[in-house]
Amino acid sequence: TWSAASIVEEQIARIRAQVGDARVICGLSGGVDSSVAAVLVHQAIGDQLTCIFVDHGLMRKDEGDQVVKAFREQYGIPLVAVDAEDRFLDKLAGVSEPEAKRKIIGAEFIRVFEEEAAKIGDAKFLVQGTLYSDVIESGGGTGAATIKSHHNVGGLPDDLEFELVEPLRALFKDEVRAVGAELGLPERLVWRQPFPGPGLAIRVVGGEATKERLDVLRDADYILQDEIRNAGLYRDLWQSFCVLPDVRTVGVQGDERTYGYVVVIRAVTSDDAMTADWARLPYDLLEQIASRMINELREVNRVVLDITSKPPGTIEWE
Ligand code: XMP
Repeated sequence: TWSAASIVEEQIARIRAQVGDARVICGLSGGVDSSVAAVLVHQAIGDQLTCIFVDHGLMRKDEGDQVVKAFREQYGIPLVAVDAEDRFLDKLAGVSEPEAKRKIIGAEFIRVFEEEAAKIGDAKFLVQGTLYSDVIESGGGTGAATIKSHHNVGGLPDDLEFELVEPLRALFKDEVRAVGAELGLPERLVWRQPFPGPGLAIRVVGGEATKERLDVLRDADYILQDEIRNAGLYRDLWQSFCVLPDVRTVGVQGDERTYGYVVVIRAVTSDDAMTADWARLPYDLLEQIASRMINELREVNRVVLDITSKPPGTIEWE
């Protein structure tokens, strides 16, 4: 019978058999899959593993810190954390087209990762948090049109010169969460909603992902998550996030005319992201979210709700 404990035991034996005493590296994305994979591998082979976390400056508020903290303090896993925000933002300067953003971020990610891997030296294996659904998606159907070029979170190509260690290859997402809980990962991390590899850059839409816009978006997103968690709805939603269009609208606050950002609330339910329905969030909650955003964020004077399902919309705006 299936149990998280038996999966852990089985995978630890497999990982040991596969890697022997070779050096292993793992790219952490901040999400649940790569985190669970890394902790599992660390349990198997200890400090033969080094993790690399590339902070591209496009993460949600505090999430990078939470991962670094859990790995260093809770598990004592050797971790190289690279603050690459400036590099990514330099490369993204002047770029507003979504696929161009994705390509730039993907390419820069690989560059930074390879530089760090080279410093670690003689690693032979690379850990990937590939799930069963990823295996099916990439092996399955033929000729599906590419709507968005999803390099998977972490964004590493298959042809790096490493052998892959993929301890989650047979698991579904809910099983990965169970394994994560079994391994004692913080529940915030275990239940984290999916987050795209290119991060907040593809949520500053129709324009350039500048530091200023990313910061407004990050703060708005933080308020949204906070309220959704407090309402007990976080786990019911496939994703909930904010989008920041590159437009300003006129408002009035006190006696003053304002000219500020519009924040879009996007919340969806879904089983697999192939289709999605917009979430019917309670009006009171929406009210609370909107008033907090406008009161707490000087730059924001309007909040709107996206009520588009997928299809015809996609989940992300870019
Ligand atoms: P869409 O917007 O196509 O998104 O309905 C489906 C799911 O994929 C995520 N997504 C991405 N994930 N890199 C990723 O790793 C990407 O470039 C990317 N674009 C979209 C999205 O968040 C949703 O869960």
